[in-house]
Amino acid sequence: MCGIVAYLGKKAAQPILIEGLKRLEYRGYDSAGVGLIQGGDIKIIKSSGRISVLEEMLDEPNSGDVLGIGHTRWATHGEPNTANAHPHLDYTGKIAVVHNGIIENYNTLKTWLISKDCKFKSDTDTEVIANLIGYLYSNTEGKDSPSDGQNRFEWAVQHALNELVGTYGLAVVCADFPDMLIGAKKGSPLILGLGDNEFVIASDASAIVEHTTQAIYLADNEMVTASSKGFHTKTIDNIEIHKELKQIEFSLDAIELNGFSHYMLKEICEQPKALKMCLGGRLDLRDGRIVLGGIGKYWREITRAKRVVINACGTAWHAGLIGEFLLEQLARINTETEYASEFRYRNPVIEDGTIVIAVSQSGETADTLAAIEQARERGATVLGIVNVVGSSIARSTDAGVYLRVGPEIGVASTKAFTAQVAVLAMLAIELGRRRHLSNESARFYIEELSKIPEKIEKVLAQSEDIKKIAEATCQRENWLFLGRGFNYPVALEGALKLKEISYIHAEGLPAAEMKHGPIALITDGMPAVFIATRCSQYEKIIGNIEEVRARGGKTIVVASEGDEDIKKYADHLITVPQVPEELQPMLTVIPLQILAYHAAVLRGHDVDKPRNLAKSVTVE
Ligand code: G6P
Repeated sequence: MCGIVAYLGKKAAQPILIEGLKRLEYRGYDSAGVGLIQGGDIKIIKSSGRISVLEEMLDEPNSGDVLGIGHTRWATHGEPNTANAHPHLDYTGKIAVVHNGIIENYNTLKTWLISKDCKFKSDTDTEVIANLIGYLYSNTEGKDSPSDGQNRFEWAVQHALNELVGTYGLAVVCADFPDMLIGAKKGSPLILGLGDNEFVIASDASAIVEHTTQAIYLADNEMVTASSKGFHTKTIDNIEIHKELKQIEFSLDAIELNGFSHYMLKEICEQPKALKMCLGGRLDLRDGRIVLGGIGKYWREITRAKRVVINACGTAWHAGLIGEFLLEQLARINTETEYASEFRYRNPVIEDGTIVIAVSQSGETADTLAAIEQARERGATVLGIVNVVGSSIARSTDAGVYLRVGPEIGVASTKAFTAQVAVLAMLAIELGRRRHLSNESARFYIEELSKIPEKIEKVLAQSEDIKKIAEATCQRENWLFLGRGFNYPVALEGALKLKEISYIHAEGLPAAEMKHGPIALITDGMPAVFIATRCSQYEKIIGNIEEVRARGGKTIVVASEGDEDIKKYADHLITVPQVPEELQPMLTVIPLQILAYHAAVLRGHDVDKPRNLAKSVTVE
């Protein structure tokens, strides 16, 4: 949801900004821009469209331009045109800002600034930040003017931040200070990379790792000022703080395409390895236990809990729903899965003994973060299941379990989903073992879980066959995805994958619900994807398949390997190895990811950057 990058060092800033923006493009891609400090001026180049469009507008890099800021946008305030693209200059032309987040009181501030003769050129909330800093910078007289050692620029930024209501990750430069870069954060992520006499500020580590693996993760209401003399961090209340230096934990290799045509395909294919990393060291096959170090101290509380509430959005919500079924089935604990965006605005009942679990790939989703705050205020212990290390959700929960699947760049989430389910399965098995699941059953599930990565390989091997199914069906504009029990959330996820990258209308449903309305949609040749693996509801779902076939629907059936009986019900058949039904979602979702991928490619869409979407939704 907008990516920002800024550079101060000894090298030409422009190519570093462009490379960084390309790494962050998954966060938003409707317009982009860079601002460079050039001989006491700020040169802004920006455009609507992708970064490739911006790149064509740029001159050869100037080795003397060593300070700059860049932005790739996902529009919130104002349409994605050039005027609304970042960076935004203030009315004096001295201050430039790139911003990720939303300023909620921008209208009030704008009215006030207009009354002070500040001119606006865009419809964005960000321009208010630039103008406010610019106004304070040019009008310090009569105020508590900067104290010794604190220059006017930094003072103005700090005072402006105190007026903002909302969220921001931002980078600011001033034409009068060609050697100074300021970053600040509240509610949107911001990282400072520390290289050899150089600084890179960015929304995430992928834009930094090429230059350095040493970083500082700013917390909310903190700002950093960097110059050739070094850097310092403080709160926006002007209290100096010491920040711990952290090691960025992934390599450049993890964020390269490595020969794949798309990140989504790479990430689908990475799932066996990703799940091995996720499960690695956590499955104690000898003692039949699961070791989740991050929540070790909380087991007593979790074991005694009366209720679990899972909060998440999008694909993570689907994983959460599977988690609900797993926790109920294996740990016999009352569990509900909530859309974080709904939970946060209700008046949820959180009694003693409620554990809240936030599930999020990015760890930055604004609604999930707000739901956590709500739950904490009401006294719940909050656990996180998060991929991005050091992200806001990881930091704002009491304890948690990292997915450990490496960066996920494709906007459509794939490997994070299977890992979220794997972590929830581990949690359910271990909690079950500590409550009333027999040691024998726990050991059985742990062994089965350990075999999932190699079984995913067998599903991936069918990619070419699934492509043929996509070729035969991808022209159809309406699809149904149907599953029961543990595979009902998989049906929801399969439909979401198809919608988000192929722009095909798809509806995911519990198969038995079809007859209560959606069955009216079935017309001749309409694709209906059934997840009909061998499980407790197998016979029932066969009945649902027949209902669709009787009305002319074309069935694409995901079935268990070796199931000969099901062939007669399937116009197209995909098989997955047999596993206990509680663990099936980690296998049955794979063909649906592959199907959506091929359908999108065949329809000519940009799979990694689907229209209107962004990977990390840091606005409400
Ligand atoms: C966005 C992404 C989805 C993702 C959802 C939740 O909508 O496009 O792929 O599932 O946010 O993101 P999170 O990072 O919290 O898992």
